[in-house]
Amino acid sequence: MLIPVILGASTLTGFILYKKLKKYKKEKIKSNDDTNNFNYIQKVDSSLNNFVGNGKIVLNKLTNIIDSIPYVVFKRIHSLTGTIFIGGFLIFHYINNSLAKDPKTLNKFTKKMHKFPLLPLIEIFGIYLPLTIHIIIGLILLKTSKINYNLKYETNYRFILQRITAYIILFTLLFHLRTVRFNEYLPKFIRDALNIPAKRDLTFEKVNIWFKPPLRPIGLIIYKLFTLSVAYHLSNGLWTASITWGLAKTYEKQKKLRDLSNIIFLFLSLWGMLIIHFYSQDYKNHKELYNQNDEDLDNSD
Ligand code: HEM
Repeated sequence: MLIPVILGASTLTGFILYKKLKKYKKEKIKSNDDTNNFNYIQKVDSSLNNFVGNGKIVLNKLTNIIDSIPYVVFKRIHSLTGTIFIGGFLIFHYINNSLAKDPKTLNKFTKKMHKFPLLPLIEIFGIYLPLTIHIIIGLILLKTSKINYNLKYETNYRFILQRITAYIILFTLLFHLRTVRFNEYLPKFIRDALNIPAKRDLTFEKVNIWFKPPLRPIGLIIYKLFTLSVAYHLSNGLWTASITWGLAKTYEKQKKLRDLSNIIFLFLSLWGMLIIHFYSQDYKNHKELYNQNDEDLDNSD
């Protein structure tokens, strides 16, 4: 009788001890986990702090560098990017787009141009970089410059128009780039809905759809506004640049160059409108364009 009692009592004591030990182990693992988690959180926290700290140092250094550049240098960079780079590109762009008079020749020429191996470098360093710099400095000037609303003086409203056209170009240019330059990256449902070709080389077609029903009213408003704004912004910009660079120091010279700038405005506006007219041609006359495949474009002369 004693043996079963002792065996029973020791089994019970063993069971109670086992349960206690298990509970103790569980608690210990949990507290270790908490410590590990705590260390992990601390590690993430400190690396985040380091990252933010380093970021702040780089930003401070950049701000110091930008602050140390004299205002006049900014103005010169803004002027150079606007005249030589964007202005120069614009003239080339207009000559290229004038080929739209004959859509087949235009497509053939642009396809050849797209194959030029240095094109990506030219696009990045000759167009996108200067454009981005011009826009960033331009936005700072838009925010900081004081406008004189006394419209009795021609220079005041020219100054205001330069700023209004800057805003218009900014938005219409984004539209132009998204729908015409980067058309192949538009979501498929948008391309299908608006009939936008998925290929970059179909230059005539991708512009033409904006001047044909049902998109014609939108296309005409956006592109005419864009063309007239660019014509004004560049022609007046060439005039202010001539002052920036000290080419027109006397009032007489400034007046003469202002007249020249008005002539350039008229010329660029008419040229732009002619290009829109070329792109508005009825494509039924150029039905073969839509059946044109890569080989046709390569082999045709
Ligand atoms: C087709 C595109 C563009 C061309 C060809 C162009 C060209 C020019 C030129 C030549 C100037 C005169 C620089 C000088 O006075 O020395 C100028 C001024 C200016 N541009 Fe542009 N630009 C273009 C787009 C833009 C855009 C998108 C903005 C938007 C931020 C902008 C903002 C400005 C501003 C604010 C001025 C006046 C600067 C001042 O009078 O102090 N431009 N631009």
